[in-house]
Amino acid sequence: MKYGFFITGTDTGVGKTWATIALMRRFKQQELSVVGMKPVAAGCEYQDGQLKNEDALLIQENASQWLDYSDINPYAFEDAISPHLAGVEYPVQIDVIAQAFDKIKDKADVILVEGAGGWFAPLNNEDDIADLAKALALPVIVVVAIRLGCINHARLTLQAIQSAGVHCVGWIAMCIDPKMARQDENIATIKNKSSAPLLGVLPYTDEMNFDYLAENLTAEKLI
Ligand SMILES: Nc1ncnc2c1ncn2[C@@H]1O[C@H](COP(=O)(O)OP(=O)(O)OP(=O)(O)O)[C@@H](O)[C@H]1O
Ligand SMILES: [Mg+2]
Repeated sequence: MKYGFFITGTDTGVGKTWATIALMRRFKQQELSVVGMKPVAAGCEYQDGQLKNEDALLIQENASQWLDYSDINPYAFEDAISPHLAGVEYPVQIDVIAQAFDKIKDKADVILVEGAGGWFAPLNNEDDIADLAKALALPVIVVVAIRLGCINHARLTLQAIQSAGVHCVGWIAMCIDPKMARQDENIATIKNKSSAPLLGVLPYTDEMNFDYLAENLTAEKLI
């Protein structure tokens, strides 16, 4: 791998997966090969006798080469609940994720790892998503869902990443609510109050149009 990024967000359901796929498309347009992981997924259904998650499947489909599902998503929990609760009998181990990461990281120019929930989402009784990002030693991209409350959520997340001594390469504004008032001003406020660069304002799209989202990334700032 030449480049790797850990994708976190201000919350669950903020657009981490959509941003990850947009980034994958964008890197592929730049003639870079790309693979991805969703190491911990809560909310899975059986497919061919194996629990699989929508986010991980999208990441698998959008990679430059086909990877085994279990390497992309070593922890697939059926219930859509916090991983530390879903994994009571089979707790998440960061070492296991690190092994899967090591196995696939050199299969492409770029590897993207999507977190679960937000920065302080617990993975087990000891470790949070923050510990996973640190263990994989990846710089972080923060996806901010542009909705009421996003300024506070973005500032808290960016400050927590900085306090952890982890490099934040930037944040992505994800416009998930077409009815939200004063979107531009909210985005401008986050921009003015944070030192991490804005990597793109990804517009609202009714369809899952990831190429359209990719056009709005300014990924030259990343690579
Ligand atoms: N640019 C967009 N335009 C319209 N809707 C969007 C956009 N980005 C995200 N969404 C909506 O938000 C939902 C959640 O996005 P996504 O699955 O990427 O979030 P997530 O942060 O990855 O969630 P999770 O914590 O479950 O992994 C999508 O299913 C979609 O309905
Ligand atoms: Mg997701």
